[in-house]
Amino acid sequence: MRIDSLTTYFQEYEKSINSPEKFWENIAENFYWRKKWSKVLEWNFDEPKIKWFLDAKLNITENIFERNLDKLAQQTAIIWESNNPNESSKHISYQQLFSEVSQFANVLKNQGVKKGDRVAIYMPMVPEAVVAMLACARIGAIHSVVFGGFSAQSLSDRIIDAEAKILITADGGFRGSKTINLKNIVDEALEKCPSIEKCIVLERTKKSIQMKNGRDIWWHQAIENISIHCEAEEMDSEDMLFILYTSGSTGKPKGVVHTIAGYMVYTQYTFENVFQYNRGDIYFCTADVGWITGHSYMVYAPLLAGGTMVMFEGVPNYPHSGRFWEIIDKNKVTHFYTAPTAIRSLMANGLEPIKPYQLTTLKVLGTVGEPINAEAWHWYHTYIGKEKCPIVDTWWQTETGGIMISPLAGITPTKPTFATLPLPGVQLMIVDSEGNELKGNAVEGNLCIKFPFPSMIRTTYGNHERCKQTYFSTYKNLYFTGDGAKRDEDGYYRILGRVDDVINVSGHRLGTAEVENAINEHPLVNESAVVAYPHDIKGQGIYAFVVLENEGKTHEITAMKASILETVNKIIGAIAKPDKILFCSGLPKTRSGKIMRRILRKIAEGDISNLGDITTLLNPEIVEEIKKEAGF
Ligand code: WT7
Repeated sequence: MRIDSLTTYFQEYEKSINSPEKFWENIAENFYWRKKWSKVLEWNFDEPKIKWFLDAKLNITENIFERNLDKLAQQTAIIWESNNPNESSKHISYQQLFSEVSQFANVLKNQGVKKGDRVAIYMPMVPEAVVAMLACARIGAIHSVVFGGFSAQSLSDRIIDAEAKILITADGGFRGSKTINLKNIVDEALEKCPSIEKCIVLERTKKSIQMKNGRDIWWHQAIENISIHCEAEEMDSEDMLFILYTSGSTGKPKGVVHTIAGYMVYTQYTFENVFQYNRGDIYFCTADVGWITGHSYMVYAPLLAGGTMVMFEGVPNYPHSGRFWEIIDKNKVTHFYTAPTAIRSLMANGLEPIKPYQLTTLKVLGTVGEPINAEAWHWYHTYIGKEKCPIVDTWWQTETGGIMISPLAGITPTKPTFATLPLPGVQLMIVDSEGNELKGNAVEGNLCIKFPFPSMIRTTYGNHERCKQTYFSTYKNLYFTGDGAKRDEDGYYRILGRVDDVINVSGHRLGTAEVENAINEHPLVNESAVVAYPHDIKGQGIYAFVVLENEGKTHEITAMKASILETVNKIIGAIAKPDKILFCSGLPKTRSGKIMRRILRKIAEGDISNLGDITTLLNPEIVEEIKKEAGF
């Protein structure tokens, strides 16, 4: 049932708390099941064990295609806009997408992919990335999409962890003025990936590349004479749909696992309610397919809802900073979903780039990925939404699969910088550092979830213990989000940001340990510590304190910095490159050898007025040195 008023929201929320099983069962009735569930929910947060719609059988692609095709065959599913405005856009109907997905599903089968096999996808923002994902889902293979900006090492780490059998990629991709030579990166990555049997390569940039005999196959050749019909594999509701790697407070990214039925039910439900999306509306989400937003709210939810979505290959400021607005006018976009960092960077360009555009078709605006500051919120509301479009500030995580806290567009009264209220089914709890619940309103603490919802993380791939340790062990019987939050006098939630060693750079999550490990790979680095600091555009910037080996100290500083940046670029990717590097002769450490990040954070933030007690440090004198280096 669609929520259409604040009263209904409160009623539905009540129902979802009082009888969650009944609530979600009702919603699940709208989907196409080969066989219905025997039980709605089985769970405990101890192991953890979370199972929704037990014993039900389905295929998520039958819910995108077969369920709706009689009405939607000719409707556009994807409008694709190239990086280059002079290249024609593509309009792909549901019928056509269905044929392409089925055909590519047959290709995967021919290459020996079976139900349960892992398939890695490393692609630019082209419709074939969606085809590849849905083709996996069609035959019951588990996709693991790796963001196209990640390095060879990041790619191979993820392939190895998932033991992927096939890699789907492209010769390259276009992003702004750059051409990314994906296949070269792939070739380097695959030297370390014995599990990969075949690599399917889409032709996009037509730059010359190496094709390895026996391993590499061109996409266009693989689909020649292949049938466009492929029966969907019958899947269990709790079979894995995909793995998506994400960073945490430890060095190694973990494979977050989502399973089919719960993810399907929750993402479509939240999409329709949060955005108040109706068929015929044109929805444009700017996220890359390599992140969870790309999975849930660019691919799965809009297609499950029978929607029309815009997929954009490029970047906001190429070839000019009005590119988003141009795409919105051209395609009569009604719903626009982007990240605060994009808004801030466009805001920095002033109002001139918006002037040529009307933006009159817009009805709803959304943001995701990081806290939105009041200034960016007002700019978005005034100049893009022309003060008539509600803004949905959606809080959620890779692990939650779908939106948890958000206004419902046009229904929930908004308040800048507040994600507002939990969606039906979401039972939040704010706790203090001991795990005591902070009841009532006007409280601030750590944000937890106390009851399962259908799209929540099931495990971390290949290591269930890690899932338990990371999310379910900080506080007993609670899922800990890693975020701090405040609940105000009206019961509205405001997300305060991460309270763990995770940095959020332009809405992308990085672990401090992960960046430190990369920096430490540099042969002339002895050790390093990484902290976040407020950054005007990115939200948070990366500040690295680096201790060099003796030989390192004889090098020229600028060259040394550049060479460290190159190391990080090579090991993780450009998104992890520190914005600032400070060289020092040591790091402030406690007697037990732990780095005192609190002090480094203060210095990075430029606030040294109160560094707290430093007498417990093993080397208090280092603080003076670092302060001086930092310009205080
Ligand atoms: C972390 C999750 C959810 C898809 C994109 C990021 C931060 C996310 C908001 C928001 C304040 C937000 C949180 C969260 N975050 N949305 N609306 N307001 N903070 O997914 O990489 O899994 O990161 O992003 O800190 O824990 P992710």
